[in-house]
Amino acid sequence: MSIEQLAETALAMVAPGKGIIAVDESTATIGKRFAAVGIDNSEEHRRVYRELLLTTPKLSEHISGAILYDETLRQSTRDGVPFARYMAEHGMIPGIKVDSGTVPLAGFPGELVTEGLDGLRARLQEYYRLGARFAKWRAVINIGDDIPTGTCIDVNAHALARYAALCQEQGLVPMVEPEVLMDGDHDIETAYEVTEAVLRSVFGALYEQNVLLEGTILKTSMVVSGKDCAEQADVQEVAESTLMCLKSTVPAILPGIVFLSGGQGDEDATAHLDAINRLGPNPWPLSFSYGRAMQQAAMALWAKDIAGNTGKAQETVYARARANGLAALGQWQGG
Ligand code: 13P
Repeated sequence: MSIEQLAETALAMVAPGKGIIAVDESTATIGKRFAAVGIDNSEEHRRVYRELLLTTPKLSEHISGAILYDETLRQSTRDGVPFARYMAEHGMIPGIKVDSGTVPLAGFPGELVTEGLDGLRARLQEYYRLGARFAKWRAVINIGDDIPTGTCIDVNAHALARYAALCQEQGLVPMVEPEVLMDGDHDIETAYEVTEAVLRSVFGALYEQNVLLEGTILKTSMVVSGKDCAEQADVQEVAESTLMCLKSTVPAILPGIVFLSGGQGDEDATAHLDAINRLGPNPWPLSFSYGRAMQQAAMALWAKDIAGNTGKAQETVYARARANGLAALGQWQGG
C-alpha cells in the first residue's frame, strides 16, 4: 500500500463538513449502554441497532466513515449485505477498533495501559480483506493525585506507535487515539498540561517508529475542565485551550484531527467543535469522531419501541450528523 493511498483515505475521512460516527463499543460496553435503556444485550439486538445507525438515510452527507467493532464488521443488514459493503456502496469508509481494551498498568496504581498488539498484524490483514480501510486504538490517561506518570504516558504512546506502524504496513490508516479522561475535579489548566505531555509523547513515538504522519489521523480529547471541577470552563475557553494545545504539539503535515465526545453532552460536543473551527483557519481539518454524542438520542428512542421507532431514531442520527458536520466548518447555528 502506498503512502499516497493512505493519505487519500485519511483526507477523505476528514473531508470538509464530514466526520466519523464511532460505533465500536465492545460487547461489554454496548451491554452497559443497552442496560441503561432496558435492552437485552443479544447479538441480534446489537446487529439491529448498528443497522439502524449505519443505514440512516443521507448519512454520508455529513459522515465520512464509521468505526466498527469486530463483531459488527462480520455482520450484515437484514437483507444480507455485509455492513462494510453497505457502507462502501453508500460513500462511507469502514473502520475497525483493533485494541482489546485497557488493563491496570502493573506497578502504577490507578493507571491503565491498552493491550492488543499480539497477533495484530494477522488481524489487520483479515480486517483489510473484510473491507476496513482505517483502524482505531484507544489509550486512556487518567488524571488524579500524582497521575498520570511519565511512564504511563510513554508506554501508552509506545503502544499507539507500534499499532500505527502495523496499520500502515497493512494498508489501513491508523486513527491514533489518546484519550485524557474528563473524570475528576481537576481544572482546565491541568487538563491542558496533561494533554500537551501526552501529545508530545505520542508524536515523539510515532516519529521514532517511522509512522508516516501523512497517512495518520489523530483522535483526541478536547481540553476541558474535569467533570467534578467546581469551575467549568466555558465554550470559548475550551475552544481556545484545545486549539492552543494542538497547535503546540501536532505537526501541520497531519491530514486531520477528530475529537471524541468523552461524556460531553450532545450539544456541548457540537458547540465546542463549532467554536474551535470559528477560531480558524487552522493547520488541519478539525472534525468529529463521536460515539455517545452521536448516538444517545437515537438509542433512547429505539429502546422505547424497537420495531416502531427506527425512522424516528434515524432522524436524530441524521440531525446530530448534520449539526456536527456544520460545526466542523464553524457554521453551526445552534439549537
Ligand atoms: P465517545 O465519543 O462516546 O467518547 O466515543 C468515541 C470513541 O470512539 C471512544 O473511543
